Amino acid sequence: HISIDEQARAILRGNDRGGYTVPTAGLYPYQWNWDSAFAAWGFAQFDIDRAWAELETLFAGQWPSGMVPHILFHKPDPGYFPGPDVWGAQDKGTTPSSGISQPPVAASFARAVYEKDPAAGEPRLRALFTRMVDWHRWFMDWRSDGGAIFITHPWEAGRDNAPDWDEAMAAIDPVGVGEYTRRDTSHVDPAMRPTKEDYDRYIWLVQRGRRLDWDDAALAKDRPFMVADPTMTFILLRANRDLAALADLLGEDRGEIDSWTARLEAGAARLKGEDGVFDAINLTTGHHTGNVSCASFLCWYAGLESDVMLDELRQAFDASPYPIPSHKVGTEIFNPKRYWRGPTWAIINALIGRGLAEMGHKPEAEKLRLLTRELIARHGFAEYFNPLNGDPAGGGTFTWTAAVWLAWAS
Ligand code: DGY
Repeated sequence: HISIDEQARAILRGNDRGGYTVPTAGLYPYQWNWDSAFAAWGFAQFDIDRAWAELETLFAGQWPSGMVPHILFHKPDPGYFPGPDVWGAQDKGTTPSSGISQPPVAASFARAVYEKDPAAGEPRLRALFTRMVDWHRWFMDWRSDGGAIFITHPWEAGRDNAPDWDEAMAAIDPVGVGEYTRRDTSHVDPAMRPTKEDYDRYIWLVQRGRRLDWDDAALAKDRPFMVADPTMTFILLRANRDLAALADLLGEDRGEIDSWTARLEAGAARLKGEDGVFDAINLTTGHHTGNVSCASFLCWYAGLESDVMLDELRQAFDASPYPIPSHKVGTEIFNPKRYWRGPTWAIINALIGRGLAEMGHKPEAEKLRLLTRELIARHGFAEYFNPLNGDPAGGGTFTWTAAVWLAWAS
């Protein structure tokens, strides 16, 4: 008999490729940015040295611009598409990579890793600090619209096929995208993955970035896809608060970081639609999406209170046995299996739960933790889950679900 804790540690060890962790073998065979930061949080529960190594490998892939790519292609793997040859960014950093970033949870988890063992962590934190500041500055320079952080590709938000992008995606005509072979649908049931229409646009956007040589200034001149995103905005706001706390610990100046926090607070306020829910804004049209997504509930994690979202939270608890669904149950779009259009994600629950607890909503935080604990204990370490019955979905033996178990749910 192996305990669930032991299973979780075995998953992290098993997905370790030497200094970095793959999200899951097969489907995601490289180092993904926010997956890796979650992995560090998980490793910190039993191997601090390995936790720091994860973050160090991630930041070693930082571009001179400050951008930290969403995928680092350490070793070739024919089982994934689109690989380094499609991105055409082999020479931008020290490691071949993608050309876009991902939600910046790293500073928050660097703080969590540090707090596990401050004496051992101080030199390693100090070595990463400037890199984290440079990354946040890159977001403020190239992804901020009045402090609302936008994405330029659905993969940047991590919520690849969320309904939040539907309007902006529909406006793209993926002309000339050409023939390509998806690999994700050979690893996972296609009903759980984005559609062909989505993929044509994902790849079209990658091809466009490549044509412009991933040059930030050139890309900024004309953005075919530009959506202000609650995942990015709330996570960066939170990470920035953590970064300021780390600056204090290290005796570094926090003035610039605090100026970003003020801008991000103003930007986060803009994500509140007429009905008071936090949602995404298609910056091309100015339209709020009106979607209540799991990212909407990250407001507390960012330090923002909202009675409207508390009411939505109660509704989410009532609407399915395993909240928080990535899209609201009962809406026409809701699909309990398809990736970010309904399934529950343990990683988002962990962030929401931490935020709720810190903002004084202890019963709600505990309820969410216990439901997530039950979900993983009964249904395993899946990438995501059907909120209506807990069925595991997507990849299995998943690094970040194991990490969340060790660091939060258990
Ligand atoms: C994928 O390949 O599905 C990833 O989400 C891209 O980051």
